[in-house]
Amino acid sequence: MSDLVQLTKNQDVAIITINNPPVNALGPGVPEAISQAITEIIQDEGVKAAVLIGAGRTFVAGADIKEFGKITSGQKARGTGLLPLLRQIEDCPKPVVIAIHGMAFGGGLELAMSGHYRVGAPGAQVGQPEVKLGIIPGAGGTQRLPRLAGVAKAVEMCAQGNPVPAREALELGILDRMIDGDLLAGAIAFARTVLEKPAPKTRERNEKLRIPEQHAAIFTAARGLARQKQRGMMAPLAAIDAVEAATRLPFDEGCEVEKKLFNDCLFSDQSKALMHVFFGEREVAKVPDIPKETPIIPVNSVGVVGAGTMGGGIAMVFANAGIPVLLKDADQPALDRGMEVIRKNYASSVKRGRFTQQFVDERLQLIKPVLSYDDFGNVDMVVEAVFEGMPLKKEVFGQLDRVCRPGTILASNTSTLSIDEIASATVRPEAVIGTHFFSPANLMRLLEIVRGKASSKEVIASCMQLSKKLSKVGVLVGNCRGFVGNRMFGPYRREAQFLVEEGANIEAVDQALYDFGMAMGPLATGDLAGLDVGWRIRKEYRHLEKPGARQPLAEDRLCEMGRYGQKTGAGWYKYDENRRAIPDPEVADLLRKWATEAGIPQRKISPQEIVDRCILALVNEGARILEEGIALRAVDIDIIYLNGYGFPAYRGGPMWYADTVGLNRVLDRISEFHRQHGELWEPATLLKRLAQEGATFAEFHQGQDVTAA
Ligand code: 3HC
Ligand code: NAI
Repeated sequence: MSDLVQLTKNQDVAIITINNPPVNALGPGVPEAISQAITEIIQDEGVKAAVLIGAGRTFVAGADIKEFGKITSGQKARGTGLLPLLRQIEDCPKPVVIAIHGMAFGGGLELAMSGHYRVGAPGAQVGQPEVKLGIIPGAGGTQRLPRLAGVAKAVEMCAQGNPVPAREALELGILDRMIDGDLLAGAIAFARTVLEKPAPKTRERNEKLRIPEQHAAIFTAARGLARQKQRGMMAPLAAIDAVEAATRLPFDEGCEVEKKLFNDCLFSDQSKALMHVFFGEREVAKVPDIPKETPIIPVNSVGVVGAGTMGGGIAMVFANAGIPVLLKDADQPALDRGMEVIRKNYASSVKRGRFTQQFVDERLQLIKPVLSYDDFGNVDMVVEAVFEGMPLKKEVFGQLDRVCRPGTILASNTSTLSIDEIASATVRPEAVIGTHFFSPANLMRLLEIVRGKASSKEVIASCMQLSKKLSKVGVLVGNCRGFVGNRMFGPYRREAQFLVEEGANIEAVDQALYDFGMAMGPLATGDLAGLDVGWRIRKEYRHLEKPGARQPLAEDRLCEMGRYGQKTGAGWYKYDENRRAIPDPEVADLLRKWATEAGIPQRKISPQEIVDRCILALVNEGARILEEGIALRAVDIDIIYLNGYGFPAYRGGPMWYADTVGLNRVLDRISEFHRQHGELWEPATLLKRLAQEGATFAEFHQGQDVTAA
């Protein structure tokens, strides 16, 4: 027996323990070793039943995702795979009881369903999350799950990919028994109760499939939901087709359908992109020059300065994680307004069923509104979210420096200002860092953690770790204007405006990018965020623009007319009382007038050009950011764009998308725009270099020769 699987005995019950840390993924060697254990159990006359269990923190989190990349890149799959093993377990003449704690996900649940019985710990979860990786269950999950849980639930689990807690799994029939207390002892005891009974094979349990008259409605509804909620993704629809096959075909033929659909998905660009995202979300937590052993500053209490839009949301983020917050504003009316907004936001979460009233009451207890810094000497971290403006930020940090004890993390939520200059207002710049939350802070997953030149490793490591506790994806970025996300968003939105000034319809621009997969078009996004925000920033930074470079004109003029977007009822679009966007012919007329006055020739613009102009503007700026070391890796940029800017995950992020298109083609297109539209389209040096070397952004590592990487 290998180290990956152990076979032991408790009198007449054999125990197979999977031991492949950290999550017992079914990587090469694991199925083979389980298979060998089953063979030995069949041969051992002293054994009457078997329990299959996971060592460590979980049962089995699925197939080894790293192996899929090897298969799609043409390497031969190692090992025998799962299907023969599952058939062997199901056909085992002695009952096999699967004992689940932690997670039985993907191939883990498929393995569990091949057993004759399943028992679970109360905290266990089961699920088929494959769609989140752009694939579908590939080891009979779409065929066995409807036989255990019924068609409707199987469709939901396979198409949406969300886990089901043990209690529900028991009600559904996925689990046969819940075990309170010691799981292994309970599973062994359960096994002894079923010794004499015929072992049920899941693949032969057809009773839950026999209500075909209900099926059509289930599949139609599921497909409608998938097209709406997982827009553009192929795997959810494939998963539904595969479960439908289970209702129409005998088990083996259903498995054949599943296999074909699985392979179609596995070899698609979407699954490669989504697997890149899976590993990317974990990679961004790793910072090359900050070792894992770096001491962490525990954050058990915080102060938030500024109870406005962001400060209020940030206070909720900490409270939701169970961390008490002092929320400070400059005066009582502002503080009252801030608390009122927090209460309203919580009330609407209760109304929508996201939180219970009790949870909300407890969270509100954790937020203490204050007007002074008196208690700030006791907190572990402060997040400043006052108005944007350097003199005010410096004044606040000067005060924090005086009142906070040594070791307190001093963070700013600034979206445009230099962390180094803010830090210069203190005598402890090593304690200062940027924590750039996105609006609404309580809902958006992204947290850009901005490293100042003096920020200490302890402070950085602590913020990276804290981001997890706050249910955020923390990405470390360098200190520059706009950091990563907003710096790239500038050229993206600039191109959207240029396009309408050159003759494209406002709606056509938004539609082309929505069809590309963006959550919202760039002009509608401007209306949502408030056009005045960018207008104010542009006015402040005008002196930094390249002299003579083309500037968008329409948005500033809309702002001069008081059209700030949704909040004033009009921006690029008009808005009704439900904030629904309505195309406004007045803006279309004005655009033509402004363009004529500015001498901008009008032409017909295709959806492909709209996508290329906007998305490649992101990519070109992203390349500069990478080259300057503002982002550590291309994947960091991708994760920022997926979690903060509505970039479609199935395209992997802007840099991954560029790699998929091919950097040569990207460079050709950008060079064409450079010739047509001038200096703003100067191709990034890194892009030129990588294209010439035939390399990709994903292969680029700062300070290393790409071809050697
Ligand atoms: N394969 C390979 N590596 C995996 C893995 C898997 N299925 N699941 C987790 N890992 C790795 C992670 O990459 C991470 O590695 P790192 O430490 O080097 O970064 C490590 O295990 C720990 O994972 P997390 O940091 O994610 O740990 P958490 O405790 O936060 O989460 C989890 C655990 C919920 C299991 C989460 O890892 C997860 O969702 N994993 C993927 C589950 C999944 O999608 N399973 C289906 C796989 S596809 C399949 O089974 C196809 C089948 O139908 C044939
Ligand atoms: P806001 O105008 O909604 O709130 C600012 C709050 O700070 C007000 O309540 C004000 O009374 C308070 N304040 C001002 N001076 C103070 C002082 N000396 N002490 C205590 N409180 C004081 O502003 P918003 O939008 O919340 O922005 C705050 C910060 O977050 C800014 O730096 C902004 O750039 C940044 N940011 C804003 C985002 C957004 O979408 N609004 C997104 C990300 C960052």
